[in-house]
Amino acid sequence: MSAPALRAQKRALPNAFLPYGRQLIEEDDIAAVTEALRGDFLTTGPMVERFETALAKTVGAKHAIVCSNGTAALHMAARALGLGAGTKVIVPVITFLATASAPHLNGAEIIFADVDPETGLMRPEDLEAAFARADHVDAVFNVHVNGQCGDIEAIAKIARAYGAKIVDDACHAIGTGFVAEDGSLSQIGSNAFCDLTVFSFHPVKTIAMGEGGAVTTNDPELAVRLARARNHGMTRKPDEFVNTQDAFDADGTPNPWYYECIEPEFNWRANDIQCALGLSQLGKLGRFVARRRALAVGYDAALTPFAPLVRPTARTSASLPAWHLYAARIDFERAGISRATVMRELAKDGIGSQVHYFPIHRQPYYAKRFGALSLPGADRYYGRCLSLPLFASMSLSDVERVAATLGNILGF
Ligand SMILES: Cc1ncc(COP(=O)(O)O)c(C=O)c1O
Repeated sequence: MSAPALRAQKRALPNAFLPYGRQLIEEDDIAAVTEALRGDFLTTGPMVERFETALAKTVGAKHAIVCSNGTAALHMAARALGLGAGTKVIVPVITFLATASAPHLNGAEIIFADVDPETGLMRPEDLEAAFARADHVDAVFNVHVNGQCGDIEAIAKIARAYGAKIVDDACHAIGTGFVAEDGSLSQIGSNAFCDLTVFSFHPVKTIAMGEGGAVTTNDPELAVRLARARNHGMTRKPDEFVNTQDAFDADGTPNPWYYECIEPEFNWRANDIQCALGLSQLGKLGRFVARRRALAVGYDAALTPFAPLVRPTARTSASLPAWHLYAARIDFERAGISRATVMRELAKDGIGSQVHYFPIHRQPYYAKRFGALSLPGADRYYGRCLSLPLFASMSLSDVERVAATLGNILGF
């Protein structure tokens, strides 16, 4: 069945299951993947560079390095910045595990930062407090939770004053914009206020590659390091060869088989099939973002009757969010119902929901490794968040159904 027919069928079934997030794959995406499958290269072929060029242009960065997923992209960012043993990285705790595990598995110690209880985003004062708990900090991995960003300009000023590098974990935020103090608009990923930006193209994200990720930067040296971190730390560039005896033929031409390992790395490459899908999806970013924004506006209106028990996530002033998630803030305590019960009741009515996120500093590994820490903003954000279905093929009537069902469950 074709994608439009599938969508028509879904619309005809008012109670079709609505997951909290899912991809929207259309006929031209399928055609693009089919073409890649018919091509000469399934990996390290032309689609990789085409996707990178298009992504760099879309977000306004000089370089984009595509890879196998967002976790790999975070890992590559840590490798490119040399965040190994003896280094310290600040990570806000409302995020997915990978934001902390990537630098930590590379040897860095993690300094956890609190967040705004109403947005889940790290505030400048949270960052200052985290710096105050460390003797030195090498990098800050900031997170644009739900697709919205906080005051990244103020955060950059603080991090720079301490000499720390900045990585934006924008796995939620492809398509998000930011208005700076001087009124200029920049895209997340352009690195206007950071060194590196990391994206994920997992199917629940705004555009999908199946699995996929990327890092963008404006620094050519970092771009080279990122590409090496993706591909075994190897080089085939003759001007980088060290073992000249082995590298070159008697006439001085490079030996055709020869490559050198500059530093050992893993294989985090994205293949041509993924990149063909990513390129096709990237062309729809504007439409997908607009759809998600319209659905978020629909939710805001549909949830209004349930205020103050249910509220939308607070909006930050300078962000033009490309919503990856629609996180409602629900006062479960006052409603007299647990979040688990609400989720189960929603599921009975064919509505998926999810919690983004359990604060990472409370995960058993990190609590044991770095000790208990009181981060009340994160606890409060976590206590009330519930992500409701949001994806590009949803309709406004789906939104109304979700809101009405939630209202019923809460006793309205
Ligand atoms: C904030 C954040 N960082 C990192 C990741 C990791 O991305 P991936 O699943 O593509 O490895 C995710 C994915 O859910 C995420 O939401």
